[in-house]
Formats: sequence, structure tokens, C-alpha cells
Amino acid sequence: MTPSFEPERILVTGGAGFIGSAVVRHLIERTAASVVNVDKLTYAASLDGVAAVADDPRYRFERLDIVDGPAITALLEAFRPEAVMHLAAETHVDRSIVGARPFIDSNIVGTFTLLDAAHRYWQGLSEPARQRFRFHHVSTDEVYGSLGAEGLFREDDPYRPNSPYSASKAAADHLVRAWHATYRLPVLITNCSNNFGPYQHPEKLLPVLVLNGAAGRPLPIYGTGGNVRDWLFVDDHAAALYAVLTRGRIGETYNIGASNERTNLEMARATCAVLDDLLPESPHRPHASLIHFVNDRPGHDLRYAIDATKLRTELGWRPAIAFDDALRRTVTWYLQHRDWCERALARAAPVPIWDFPRPAAASGQQTHVR
Ligand SMILES: NC(=O)c1ccc[n+]([C@@H]2O[C@H](COP(=O)([O-])OP(=O)(O)OC[C@H]3O[C@@H](n4cnc5c(N)ncnc54)[C@H](O)[C@@H]3O)[C@@H](O)[C@H]2O)c1
Repeated sequence: MTPSFEPERILVTGGAGFIGSAVVRHLIERTAASVVNVDKLTYAASLDGVAAVADDPRYRFERLDIVDGPAITALLEAFRPEAVMHLAAETHVDRSIVGARPFIDSNIVGTFTLLDAAHRYWQGLSEPARQRFRFHHVSTDEVYGSLGAEGLFREDDPYRPNSPYSASKAAADHLVRAWHATYRLPVLITNCSNNFGPYQHPEKLLPVLVLNGAAGRPLPIYGTGGNVRDWLFVDDHAAALYAVLTRGRIGETYNIGASNERTNLEMARATCAVLDDLLPESPHRPHASLIHFVNDRPGHDLRYAIDATKLRTELGWRPAIAFDDALRRTVTWYLQHRDWCERALARAAPVPIWDFPRPAAASGQQTHVR
């Protein structure tokens, strides 16, 4: 195994996003690293997620687009990171279906630009510094496509991305692998399952369930609600990323997941049960009565489930929080941050998420929920 190292300077991209901000908090609060957070501040970003560490002298924010090669190069030369943790991306699958261009630009061209700049910077380092350097690309399990009722995603599974989003992430993964195979750039790739937790943009499933449920609005569930996702609390993801960065084997991929498979309907019902508990006076109890099935997403993958044996056995990572506790904490957070959610939604163009054409044979009423 590669000897453990603790980078002194880490450049994080996408650190104003949901997972990136959890990573920045983890690095400042739990390690001695100095961090530069590079983020373009798209509609999905919020610097509130890093407000708790923003005054720390080891933290700095740079508003930059990762497709801006000269600016990235200048920052690398000035900050001289020992590691790059690359999380910046467009991430909403439904938005990628409606318009893929930003996903191609940020996720593919952006990753190429960052790799190219990092490669040149790395070549200019001393031999010991080159040995220490890591380029960590944070990716998704969606690159593997869809599972049937059985089986788990393993690191050596073939890539079969089905949405423009997952195809763009798969393309980025391939570029990162190629920069290792071709130029020996010391890379790491992680492919993670669905995250939940504070500071996720309120257009995503879990916040939608909490916010709509609390307001007595319908809880939109695609198709029959039978699609399965494997859920991971965001702080556990951040800890896993740091474990891979500092102790993972160069050139390797690590799957990250906590074996919390739930159908979307189960997830909605579990969230509703927490809402019932936390809002005993609500006129909308039982919140599960608000569940409302809507047209399925085109190309909707049936099931994702992670085999994280490699991460667990090689690096000893374990999730620190049980699923039910993490869900309760998350639902509580969204109930307490409804203003934050309203502001985030106001910044975002509405996604016609539930407007995909209904197959000719099907019938029923369309429901529009943002
Ligand atoms: N959310 C999940 O469940 C999940 C699961 C597995 C992997 N991932 C991956 O983790 C990473 C972070 O996901 P997230 O959910 O935090 O996303 P997010 O949408 O909440 O945040 C993405 C951040 O990237 C920034 N960004 C986008 N394009 C940029 C560009 N061109 N230049 C600079 N910054 C840019 C945005 O401003 C935003 O702050 C992504 O790479 C995503 O593919 C997410």
C-alpha cells in the first residue's frame, strides 16, 4: 500500500456545492491542511456550506471556472497544492436531459482543463514533490449504468452510463485514467452512491420530499417508486474521500457506499415517518398520503448498489452514522433551513422535471412541482 501522507495544501474544486462544502469542512476541521476552494458559483452553489470555516486562516475561496486553463494554472503555481480534490460538476440528471451542454462543458472540458493544468504543474515539481502529489477525481456510481434486481457495482465493472449526466462523468473518469496511464499523473478515482445531508440543493429528491411534505404539497415520485438507490450520509462520504486521498493506491478506483439500499418509495415513506414525528401538530399528517406518482424519467436506471469491500478492507473506512439517525438529522436540518432552501430555489431556473412526455399508452394527470 502507498504510505499514508497528509497533504499540507489541497485545492478543492466545487467546494461551494453540497459534497464539496462537506469536504472543505472536513479538511479544515479535522486535518491540518490549508485549502483553496475553487468554485464558479453556479445556481447550485452556496458559500453558506463553508461559512463555519471561512474565517480560518487555512481556508481561501477563489471564484473560478475550471474551464479557464490560464487561471487554473496561475492558481496552481501560486498555491502549490500537494493534492487536488476535484468535485466541481453539473450534477442534476434531469437538467442534463433537458440541456446537456453545461454538463459537457464543466464535467468533460472542465476535467480535461484541470488535468492538463495539473499535469504541467506536476511535471515542474521536484521528484519528491511529484511522488507526493495526488489528483483525486470524485465521481458517481451512475457511470456503471443500471443493475437488475441482483448484484452490486464493483470497481472493475464495465461503464454503461445512461443519462447525459452519467455519460459526462464517465467521460471525465476515462480522461483521468488516461492521464495516469499515459503520463503517470498520480490519480485516484472514487465512484460514490447517492448522498444525502445538509446543504444539498433543494431541487434534489430528499429536500423536495421534506419541503413539499412540510408545506402539504404533493411528493412527486417517478414511475412506480421502485427505483433503488444506495444512500450515504454526506459527512461519511467526505471522510471516505480523505481516506482514499491519503491512503489509496495510485491509479486505483474505489467505490464508496454504505449498503443502504432503498426504493424511492421506501425513501419517501421513511422521510414522511420522520416528518410525522417532528411535526406532530401538522395538518398534513400522515405525510405519506401526499406521495404522488408522476411520469417516469426517460432512461431511468432501475437500481444502483455499491460493493465497497475494497474501501472497507484496504482502507478500513466505515460510515460513522447509522442511516436512520442521518435521515432524522437531515430532515431536521431542512425543516430548520427553509429560508435557505427558498433562496437557493430562487437562484435556480425551474427544471421541467416532471414534464417528460408520457408514453402514449399511459394516462393520468400531469403534476408540476417546480
Ligand atoms: N450528490 C450525489 O449524490 C453524488 C454522488 C456521487 C458523486 N457525486 C459527485 O460529487 C461531486 C459533487 O456533487 P454535489 O452533489 O456536491 O454537486 P453540487 O451540484 O451540489 O455542487 C457542484 C459545485 O460545482 C460547482 N461548479 C460547477 N461547474 C463548475 C465549473 N465549471 N467551475 C467551477 N465550479 C463549478 C458549482 O458551482 C457547485 O458549487 C460531483 O462531481 C458529482 O458528480 C455526487
